[in-house]
Amino acid sequence: MKKLLEGKTIVVTGCASGIGWETARLCKAWGASVLGVDRTMTHDHVEALYKCDLSDPAQIRQLVQALPHGVHGIANVAGLPPTAPAELVLKVNLVGLKAFTLAMIPKLADGASVVNLASLAGLDWASHISSIHDSEALDFDDVAEFVRTHDAGDAGGRSYFFSKEALIAWTLQHRWTWRERGIRMNAVSPGPVDTPILGDFVKTLGARAEEDMRVMDRPGAAADIAPVVAFLLSDLSGWIRGTNIPVDGGMSSHLLCNMHAL
Ligand SMILES: NC(=O)c1ccc[n+]([C@@H]2O[C@H](COP(=O)([O-])OP(=O)(O)OC[C@H]3O[C@@H](n4cnc5c(N)ncnc54)[C@H](O)[C@@H]3O)[C@@H](O)[C@H]2O)c1
Repeated sequence: MKKLLEGKTIVVTGCASGIGWETARLCKAWGASVLGVDRTMTHDHVEALYKCDLSDPAQIRQLVQALPHGVHGIANVAGLPPTAPAELVLKVNLVGLKAFTLAMIPKLADGASVVNLASLAGLDWASHISSIHDSEALDFDDVAEFVRTHDAGDAGGRSYFFSKEALIAWTLQHRWTWRERGIRMNAVSPGPVDTPILGDFVKTLGARAEEDMRVMDRPGAAADIAPVVAFLLSDLSGWIRGTNIPVDGGMSSHLLCNMHAL
């Protein structure tokens, strides 16, 4: 039987650790040729590693130039936790991700799939529409000013929350942008996942994180998330477009039920 990703070339950013590492491993196991991108070196599960700091527009331009034409999928997994400086969080999690993806569109094969790693932290995106609009054309040089003038700074991990809120909105907005070429974009929103940055979330969110962990049966594992990403990269998910899929052990439903008194 043909493997699900056989014949596909998939780019996985953040492939050196956590969810990206597991996504790269699984895509390879499902038959893909995996091109890894990270600021850290790794050779596990990847055909080739492209070293790149995704907060740096010059490095992103070089990366896009170096990657081949005909890529069938991008898993945008690289990301920083809320303990990193707000400016950097927005650059990597939002501005760099968008710049990289948009620059790659001409190099993608028709029918390609883009999957953005958002988060449960982005669930309340609809309450931040004004800032999301203001961030639509945000460039690297304007991030410091944006952080100062919007609810996207270090306090309470807002930089992280905002980066994921805006990423979910951006994914929805691009439901049909490249439909003539069959190029799709979706997001996956994990709840707390046991990777090296889980402690950073707990540290930033304090009592809120403790309460989340109390009601959950367990934190997620990278292996809970990667199959959903790999499925979205496969042709089996061809009619799933512009959506955000929570993979969180039921946590987003729990929060929504509380929010709407269900
Ligand atoms: N772990 C969680 O609880 C959780 C929950 C929801 C969403 N997420 C999201 O999942 C994604 C992966 O997180 P993870 O938990 O696997 O974290 P991780 O720290 O294990 O992996 C993140 C990877 O991104 C890379 N990276 C960070 N900054 C970079 C940069 N400037 N340039 C290139 N690469 C860079 C790191 O080197 C690392 O390999 C992130 O986008 C994160 O926001 C994680």
